[in-house]
Amino acid sequence: MDGKLIVFEGVEGGGKTTQMQRLIHWLQASCFPIASLVATREPGGTELGKGLRRLLLGQGSGELVSDRAELLMYAADRTQHVETFLKPQLALGTMVLCDRYTDSTIAYQGYGRGLNLDLIEQLNEIATGGLQSDLTFWLDINVEVGLARVRARGKRDRIEQADVEFHRRVQQGFAELARQNPDRIIRINADRTEDEVAQEIQAILSRSLAAWGYLKSFES
Ligand SMILES: Nc1ncnc2c1ncn2[C@@H]1O[C@H](COP(=O)(O)OP(=O)(O)OP(=O)(O)O)[C@@H](O)[C@H]1O
Ligand SMILES: [Mg+2]
Repeated sequence: MDGKLIVFEGVEGGGKTTQMQRLIHWLQASCFPIASLVATREPGGTELGKGLRRLLLGQGSGELVSDRAELLMYAADRTQHVETFLKPQLALGTMVLCDRYTDSTIAYQGYGRGLNLDLIEQLNEIATGGLQSDLTFWLDINVEVGLARVRARGKRDRIEQADVEFHRRVQQGFAELARQNPDRIIRINADRTEDEVAQEIQAILSRSLAAWGYLKSFES
């Protein structure tokens, strides 16, 4: 069976990275017969992508990155990631957990920066060759709460430093995407304890795994 692509999305500080790590540990200890499991992220899931990530999120030279240059760099990162990592892994039957994917580009570069949504959809199509997530968890958090968590975490990157209004538009983008894709995007209220959020994600994924034919084994 082909693998599955599980994506975590949402504004800064919702707990995407935290919950992805927790889900990996849970899946490794679960009775679901998952032969191989990998975690990856965008930008930065390949060697080329790591360089692009530094350019996109690093402090840089102070030169302003144009909105379209930013969009094209995310598209280059995604193209390389899909071609050289995601598609080969999925073909091997791997379950792939991915920190951000196509919806982030629509939310940040489309709703946040105001770039043309049709153009972004076309670029996403070129970059992915039509590869969609099997399931996307949208960790929905109030923008101020999320940014406060990120501030408490320490150093902030170039995107995190953008103004609150920008992040509010991004948040609206995720809400609109979830409304348009109710089967693929699951909203998770991320303004709860890590344990509560993790338990809901595990319950939802358990149902999906069963529906996809991963039969739970009770043998030790
Ligand atoms: N449910 C929670 N309640 C309180 N704090 C949390 C919760 N989940 C995560 N955190 C903390 O909030 C901070 C941000 O979490 P995390 O890095 O997982 O978010 P993220 O969505 O990956 O953010 P980014 O978009 O910046 O990568 C971390 O310091 C993390 O320990
Ligand atoms: Mg993160």
